Amino acid sequence: MADGSVVVALLDGTLLDPAQPLLRPDDLGVLRGEGVFETTLVVDGIARDLDEHLIRLTVSAEQTGLTVPAPDQWRPGVQAALQAWTGGSQMVLRLIASRGPEHGSEPVCYVLGAELPMASRRQRRSGVRVLLLERGFTVAAATSAPWLLAGAKTLSYGVNMAALRHARANGADDVIFLDADGRVLEAPTSSVVLARGRTLVTPPEEAILAGITVRRLFRAAESAGWDVQTEPLTAADLWAADGVWLTSSARLLAPVVAIDGRPRADGALTGELHRLLDVPD
Ligand SMILES: Cc1ncc(COP(=O)(O)O)c(C=O)c1O
Repeated sequence: MADGSVVVALLDGTLLDPAQPLLRPDDLGVLRGEGVFETTLVVDGIARDLDEHLIRLTVSAEQTGLTVPAPDQWRPGVQAALQAWTGGSQMVLRLIASRGPEHGSEPVCYVLGAELPMASRRQRRSGVRVLLLERGFTVAAATSAPWLLAGAKTLSYGVNMAALRHARANGADDVIFLDADGRVLEAPTSSVVLARGRTLVTPPEEAILAGITVRRLFRAAESAGWDVQTEPLTAADLWAADGVWLTSSARLLAPVVAIDGRPRADGALTGELHRLLDVPD
């Protein structure tokens, strides 16, 4: 049975042995990467922004023509995973809906908890070196072609992972994608935020995932007296900014310390943004 450092639960709260297979070989999640997921962070037993993640899961499912159980139906599985967890103080919790067997009708849904990687914890403070890579479409093309699924959180993350491998093979840790016109999009698993004085700026939610962490950061920053805005950004804006960060639900917020091999500073703002986001050690 589970040793508590990886936990798997079905939506009704049944715990499964993580060493045992769950998906069938003909599941379309396996065969074609069809399905949707969410990732959030559990800190000291509390899942951050769970309601927002449950809602976004439904939105991604609608974009992919998949019917997933309603948000509340996931809660017993989440509770079971939280209670079974005996690992460290920070757990990455994934909610997964795979499309299911080729000729079946029901998605296979489960909850998976695992330790937050040490590298993610480290990068919150040490930062990430990024490469700027072209994503291969324009914002306009992606928004008029819903089949590209830009902005849906689907199980097809092969391109995003390939970009990260390319970055690592070239002396970087992460990637900021640009569209074919040079507009800043997002990172493979994060949103992009920059500071201009006391204004935080992020690109519009077009052809990118609507980041839950950046929204939370903006709410907290506004309450603390910052201005916040969304506007189209280019690489020049990244260089002209006082600081650039990647935000995401598990790593939360990491400063960008180099772009294409050239160092860039964080304006000594990372600590303040960490406090706004309640980033743990
Ligand atoms: C492609 C992509 N963009 C942005 C994000 C950041 O979103 P969030 O802050 O909701 O985790 C993620 C991570 O989930 C992602 O995979």
